[in-house]
Amino acid sequence: MAGFPVGRPRRLRATPALRRLVAGTRLHPADLVLPVFVREGLREPRPVASLPGVLQHTRRSVVALAREAVAAGVGGIMVFGVPERRDATGSGLDDPSGVLNVALADLADAVGDDTVLMADLCLDEFTDHGHCGVLDGAGRVDNDATLERYAAGALAQAAAGAHLLGTSGMMDGQVGVVRRALDGHGRTDVGVLAYAAKYASAYYGPFRDAVESTLQGDRATYQQDPADARGALVELAHDLAEGADVVMVKPALPYLDVLRRVADASPVPVAAYQVSGEYAMVHAAAGNGWLDGDRAMLESLLAIRRAGADVVLTYAALDVARALDVTG
Ligand code: PBG
Repeated sequence: MAGFPVGRPRRLRATPALRRLVAGTRLHPADLVLPVFVREGLREPRPVASLPGVLQHTRRSVVALAREAVAAGVGGIMVFGVPERRDATGSGLDDPSGVLNVALADLADAVGDDTVLMADLCLDEFTDHGHCGVLDGAGRVDNDATLERYAAGALAQAAAGAHLLGTSGMMDGQVGVVRRALDGHGRTDVGVLAYAAKYASAYYGPFRDAVESTLQGDRATYQQDPADARGALVELAHDLAEGADVVMVKPALPYLDVLRRVADASPVPVAAYQVSGEYAMVHAAAGNGWLDGDRAMLESLLAIRRAGADVVLTYAALDVARALDVTG
């Protein structure tokens, strides 16, 4: 029958040039943030078995990696510290000679003008019990006592040269306390990347290897319930009211619905964290020859951007930036 069908959407899929023109969602190195681990007392970088291609870095090797990320056009670096010793209050977080703070200072010196330096503002790497807060007499995470620790940590990270502080502890009032502490000390220039929606997720497994986590039990009393989508909007409202500059959803791919809701509701830029387990799954399947790892990674990251993330944290940031090979 001539003239039928009238609508032929396949027309715009006919060539790579047509598909590129109408793609609607793009990946660009500048939208990607590379999370990095700095381990105190290491002499050589050490691979993280459950995160292929990811290393625990020395102070020196993390600077070299950061320079590579900058050269590849990666938009930012999120720094995590792994201390040699831990204690009940996580004193390494706000100790200026704590591993994260010295690494931030090194990075600020080396690449601070060329990238966005983000710091994980969380106690779990520094506490001997592995929780993201200090404990009360009954062994429960004490929200308000923890806030004081985060205020102190924020000032130390700002002094070390971080541009954005990632408040990942999921304590109530944490963004506000950090904002007030910074402002009260003249650091109105330092921003808050609020982990608005952070779910109590099994996908953090490999990360806990990377930071040698000592956690027993779970974080279900402070991180969100995976079944609860609406709660993300409550967290978003609080974080915005408390002064968040950027809000984040985490994990990313299993929570694309949450990401879309947050992106639709947020007046500030939205980040999403493709967490360790998401990255490890792609690598594990690719390692078995079960899927094309590079394509699956790009498709994952595109999906996260398509669902509304302006910024994506991913352990693949440097590889992807190099593969995209766009500069400027
Ligand atoms: C807490 C923190 C975690 C991750 C980022 N920040 C672990 C947790 O909440 O248990 C997980 C990131 C990942 O899995 O890649 N400092």
